[in-house]
Amino acid sequence: MKTTIRTEVIGVASGKGGVGKTTLAVNLAIALQMSGQRVMLFDADLGLANSQIAMGCTCPFNLSHFMSGQKTLEEIMVTTRHGVKLIPGASGVSELAALSRTQASRVVQSFSALEGEIDYLIVDMAAGISPSVLAFMEACQRRFIIVRDDPSSIADAYGMIKVLIQEYNLDEIYIVPNAVKSQSDGQNLFRRINQVCAQFLNYTTHYIGSIEDDKLILEGHRKYEPVLSYAPNSVSSRSFIRLAKSVTQIPNISEVSGGMQFFVERLVQQQN
Ligand SMILES: Nc1ncnc2c1ncn2[C@@H]1O[C@H](COP(=O)(O)OP(=O)(O)OP(=O)(O)O)[C@@H](O)[C@H]1O
Ligand SMILES: [Mg+2]
Repeated sequence: MKTTIRTEVIGVASGKGGVGKTTLAVNLAIALQMSGQRVMLFDADLGLANSQIAMGCTCPFNLSHFMSGQKTLEEIMVTTRHGVKLIPGASGVSELAALSRTQASRVVQSFSALEGEIDYLIVDMAAGISPSVLAFMEACQRRFIIVRDDPSSIADAYGMIKVLIQEYNLDEIYIVPNAVKSQSDGQNLFRRINQVCAQFLNYTTHYIGSIEDDKLILEGHRKYEPVLSYAPNSVSSRSFIRLAKSVTQIPNISEVSGGMQFFVERLVQQQN
């Protein structure tokens, strides 16, 4: 277990839509929580309530109620039955882009107050490389790019990595192959993409594990249950647990650049 008192912030993104970001964000959050970490999931996908559905919970309020001052951060936050705290973003995510100075300091203060209470903040992004997604990715400490073994998913993942490196100068980029036949197929997919990154971007990404194609994910999803609770022994559930373990084993990045406060400050500052 980590000894840090700072929240570690992990962004989950993909170039192409529908490749499994929400599935990964939700199940990674649950697996980390099950291993004794305190986890918060931030649904930063505009409008759609995908994380809520995948978690099997309903949130009466969202980030926009907090932004407008109607509700506190605690009031919009829902603790799921898995113990994960969920922040529903919805339209509030775009409002983050138009904060006044006073609003900004309230947002930063409210998030910073959670610093000592949350070990991991997982941010589930919208697909693609919109300015809002890139701003969130820049504010995170680590970036997981979800990719499937199909040409357009691979091309779009590469496109996103290229922007993150060349335009944003970011590191801590992990490629996470999803819906692969086996861990070794996932590793091969990672190697193929990473080789292109090394050759054309002069940059190497990291590997932290893959998630297998598992029909129990969709079966659980239809019953509003994440696979980890719907089928805890399924091949994907076991991979999510392994992934969570690997996440806790990555060495801490500099304390200075970490934490909830830093994440929100960066987010808010970039937008102003
Ligand atoms: N490893 C997997 N095996 C089988 N099905 C999967 C797997 N991962 C995700 N799926 C299914 O793929 C679909 C898309 O997944 P998900 O909603 O997580 O993608 P997303 O990247 O968040 O999509 P969006 O871009 O719309 O936010 C869902 O129906 C989900 O159940
Ligand atoms: Mg999603």
